[in-house]
Amino acid sequence: MSALFQPLTLKSIELKNRIAVPPMCQYSAINGVANDWHHVHYAGLARGGAGLVIVEATAVSPEGRITPKCLGIWNDEQAQQLSKVAQTIKQSGSVAGIQIAHAGRKASANIPWEGDDHIETENPEGWDTIAPSAVAFGANLPKVPAEMTKDDIERVKQDFVAGAKRALEAGFEWLEIHFAHGYLAQSFFSTHANQRTDEYGGNAEGRARFLLETFDAVREVWPEHLPLTIRLGVLEFDGNDEAMLQESVDMLNKMKTNGLDMVSVSVAFNTPTAQVPWGPAFLAPISERIRQQTGLPVASAWGIDKPEDAERVVAEKQMDQVMIGKAYLADPHYTYRLAKALNVEKPSWCLPPSYAHWLERYHFADK
Ligand code: NDP
Ligand code: FNR
Repeated sequence: MSALFQPLTLKSIELKNRIAVPPMCQYSAINGVANDWHHVHYAGLARGGAGLVIVEATAVSPEGRITPKCLGIWNDEQAQQLSKVAQTIKQSGSVAGIQIAHAGRKASANIPWEGDDHIETENPEGWDTIAPSAVAFGANLPKVPAEMTKDDIERVKQDFVAGAKRALEAGFEWLEIHFAHGYLAQSFFSTHANQRTDEYGGNAEGRARFLLETFDAVREVWPEHLPLTIRLGVLEFDGNDEAMLQESVDMLNKMKTNGLDMVSVSVAFNTPTAQVPWGPAFLAPISERIRQQTGLPVASAWGIDKPEDAERVVAEKQMDQVMIGKAYLADPHYTYRLAKALNVEKPSWCLPPSYAHWLERYHFADK
């Protein structure tokens, strides 16, 4: 029996299998509002059989967008269109999740296929960025952010709270706060980005404060019976990984006490000089370690799309849920492919009945 195809229950939500589509920016919104592209895209992903589909990084404020074309959740029009996306995902058979985000010093960038670099200062399409300290990311993102004041910190926390409330009203049943990938929260946690000398910087406790306070504020408004998760880069691949892993475990244990339901383990991406060991399932041993040392349910991604890898990482308890990104863009029925490859009984029933009935009986019956 496949471990990957066992259900996973978190709070009141039962996922039909251990496969999730992770958040993946589409850079296709206008003024942060979802449109037909998002409806079609997410319907396609959800009907492909994954237990969970998480909507892409959705900014809690205009300045928190990575690019001008990122989704937002700071006004009612955005929430209204997102509610249609949530409904589409549910109708197509998955649980609807969303990732709320603030891009910090990586904000105000051109979309990836138009440069992936900071928008030039004189271009009115761009905006001023904020971060824990006035330190640029570097490389393609050289813009120096403004150091956040205490008022800025409080405002952004409240933006996350408002975003969480809107996500709930829009019908999402799974909330992921984006604390990863070098964006605002991850940069507070980072020695590369955070050079503050007040209580939001300095030692690990100080660098974790913004994340812990934001988490606690969101927990207060997100219902107890629905999963509240974070995505966190737990290491940087910068030669300082042991220390950062320990700091991550300590912070996660505090969040667990305060109501964290799951962590999506990722890379921190706070420095362009990181030496990431890209390869199949390269984060699985790290994910296993976080799982063991926190006792939290863990999800992870990055090159875990081969059927044998996806099955193994769950069977060997390296993670509880496998996130499959690019393979899902290539084939929105990827869960169905996995089910066939792993000899799951009646694999077509990953798909909606209007497909499955025919595929099971005829088209792919013997493949
Ligand atoms: P970049 O996408 O600029 O990548 C940084 C370096 O890592 C580059 O040298 C790049 O290689 C390499 N790289 C990135 N992904 C892979 C991969 N899958 N396999 C092999 N090499 C890779 O870094 P960012 O900091 O912008 O993003 C970090 C990661 O997060 C990326 O994988 C990106 O796809 C993903 N991402 C996250 C988003 C979010 O969290 N909202 C939004 C969009 C993307 P090369 O120069 O050859 O491309
Ligand atoms: C991503 N990724 C990403 N991560 C995240 O936390 N929020 C996001 O919005 C995005 N956006 C995004 C867009 C695109 C086009 C890609 C390819 C990736 C990272 C993504 O969730 C996942 O971790 C990676 O794609 C690695 O998994 P795979 O693709 O190796 O299965």
